[in-house]
Amino acid sequence: MAEDATTALFFELFSGLPQQGPGDAASTIRALSLVPDVGPETRILDIGCGTGRQTRVLAQNTRARIIAIDIHPPFVDELNRETRRIGLTERVTARVADMQGLDFPNASFDLIWCEGAIYIAGVEAALRDWRRLLANDGHVAFTEVCWTKPDPPPECVSFWEQEYPAIRDEAALLTAIAACGYETVGHFMLSRAAWWDDYYRPLEQNVTAFPARHRGRVEAEELADQCRREIDVWKAYSDYYSYGFFVARAR
Ligand SMILES: C[S@@+](CC[C@H](N)C(=O)[O-])C[C@H]1O[C@@H](n2cnc3c(N)ncnc32)[C@H](O)[C@@H]1O
Repeated sequence: MAEDATTALFFELFSGLPQQGPGDAASTIRALSLVPDVGPETRILDIGCGTGRQTRVLAQNTRARIIAIDIHPPFVDELNRETRRIGLTERVTARVADMQGLDFPNASFDLIWCEGAIYIAGVEAALRDWRRLLANDGHVAFTEVCWTKPDPPPECVSFWEQEYPAIRDEAALLTAIAACGYETVGHFMLSRAAWWDDYYRPLEQNVTAFPARHRGRVEAEELADQCRREIDVWKAYSDYYSYGFFVARAR
């Protein structure tokens, strides 16, 4: 899992942030409240955990045991350090792993959590692939970008066509979840604050500082431009899209 130079730049741009994607404690807790009977016996797998913003919320609002996985070792190290610092190591472990090749035995978990990362495998591929990891009546909770209003302006459409052509509306995602063998038990959209306060606002500061550190490196400038464009598109058109939080039970 060695990182190439561009990937290393990408992770540098996203380092030092309180979280690596849209989300907040309120939405994690709201989604958790949709999952029945989470107790000390519940086994949670947090996929694409980053530095663990949602992992800590899950740990602090349940008595469940949690394994958190991410492909980027420094994020995993940071989460394990923080877990030690706040005294959660008995119930929370972070490991380096690839979400597209998880080798846990069947039925290892009661709840799979994935904030801001399911797009990496693709919703359908991930839901089908992860299904075997869930015990009977297991649940999955994930966030995924969705259109929230019809007829988004052309500039917004062209940004998403380029960045993530799989973007759909909520109804299409609900259909996809059902087609993958799950029953949705609840869903809602993230607030604007969940995108801005602890994600785009600090990321915008990183984006400003980043090219100066890598003067003359075209990939760094391109990466910063791409990130700046993503934030600008969100500032202009966030009425048209957000992250949906979906909680579903495996049938
Ligand atoms: C948008 S971030 C979300 C992180 C965190 N869940 C949050 O919301 O703050 C996506 C995360 O997925 C991780 N990731 C990327 N590809 C992955 C893969 N193949 N397997 C596991 N994690 C991966 C990245 O390192 C990153 O931490």
